[in-house]
Amino acid sequence: MDRLKVVCVVGTRPEAIKMAPVVIALRERGSFDVVLLATGQHSQMLYQALAPFQLTPHADLGIMRERQSLDYVTSAVLQGVGDFLDDCRPAAVLVHGDTTTTMASALAAFYRDVPVGHVEAGLRSGDMRRPFPEEMNRVFTDRISSLHFAPTEGARRNLVADGIREGSILVTGNTVIDALLWMRDHVSSPSKAIGAVGDGPFILVTAHRRESWGAPLREIALSVRDLLGVRRDLKALIPMHRNPDVRSVWMEILGGEDRAVLCDPLDYPDFVWAMDRCLFILSDSGGVQEEASGLRKRVLILRDVTERPEVLDSGYGFLVGTSRDRIVSTAMRVLNGELPAPAVASPFGDGRASARIAEALESYLIDRRKN
Ligand code: UD1
Ligand code: UDP
Repeated sequence: MDRLKVVCVVGTRPEAIKMAPVVIALRERGSFDVVLLATGQHSQMLYQALAPFQLTPHADLGIMRERQSLDYVTSAVLQGVGDFLDDCRPAAVLVHGDTTTTMASALAAFYRDVPVGHVEAGLRSGDMRRPFPEEMNRVFTDRISSLHFAPTEGARRNLVADGIREGSILVTGNTVIDALLWMRDHVSSPSKAIGAVGDGPFILVTAHRRESWGAPLREIALSVRDLLGVRRDLKALIPMHRNPDVRSVWMEILGGEDRAVLCDPLDYPDFVWAMDRCLFILSDSGGVQEEASGLRKRVLILRDVTERPEVLDSGYGFLVGTSRDRIVSTAMRVLNGELPAPAVASPFGDGRASARIAEALESYLIDRRKN
């Protein structure tokens, strides 16, 4: 039997980390010819994320520009992925999550009548502008996908409520838990990149969301400064996103603070080590919300809404928004032991999501070939 050619598209750091175990699972199945396509929406951060999984893209469209606009990324991905699919002619395309790469790659496949499998389908905040533009990207991608790999039962319900055909949905767990558990078992000690955090207590902080650029990000940085002022034994480890407009805010507000360890984005093994070792996490990241529960860490979510309500229900996550007072008061409650970590398993999966996706995709494509 001819092998089933599948193009897996990745553009940004989280897509790389969450698609990596899927690529590995597809290869392990033996029936697929797996092509990993990078759009290059992210450059350094994409390769940094793929490296620990020993993955190198077969092709890279290399589209990234400094301070790129949404219009530019959308059109460059649509054109580049479209041309690639015309040459490659795969049986299916897999996309992940909710980035502009995800949405525009799915559209390029749809235009060529190539079935799209959406990994991490069905997440919804219910607010088209938060997170922006990710909520629109997910809704749009789900609408034009043929297969929906929902990470949770709640995501499945969201898809059904949106009128997606039930037979196209499979609840798999989130592939980030596959990546995380694999990485945790392979991490022994951190690299020199985070040596400055030392052996004492620290909090881990990341923020990069588009809707937080400007004043909200300043509030977040000021809240970290306040916390370090109140707790003199505490450090804050802050791996900064490479976006220059994000880095400049961290540097301006925390650059002079001894106990704020500002660094470049960490390699995934180091970041997993830091999540595991820290007291708790402050983040507006989607992936980090899921990973926190996988490591039984509490996470203060620096957003007003989340499309991952399971993290709130599980007791690991607290929605604190971007107000300086609220972040500081909730963080102090965690530090004072008033919000203890629950002892429940992650609601996002058991580490076998990618194997389920590979199996389901194989059945779907074999059936399609027969008909
Ligand atoms: C993108 C995604 C967001 C995702 C995030 C993960 C969209 C619209 N946004 O946001 O959903 O949560 O990635 O991190 O798809 N840059 C570099 N080097 C890199 C990566 C980025 O210099 O390796 C800089 C560039 O100046 C680039 C800017 O960051 O123009 C913004 O990158 P972009 O992908 O447009 O937006 P993100 O905020 O990273
Ligand atoms: N991450 C990493 N190094 C860092 C910060 C984050 O490897 O310095 C990982 C993190 O573990 C998670 C992913 O990057 O798997 C999240 O990416 P990001 O926050 O950029 O995007 P989002 O999840 O918000 O879309």
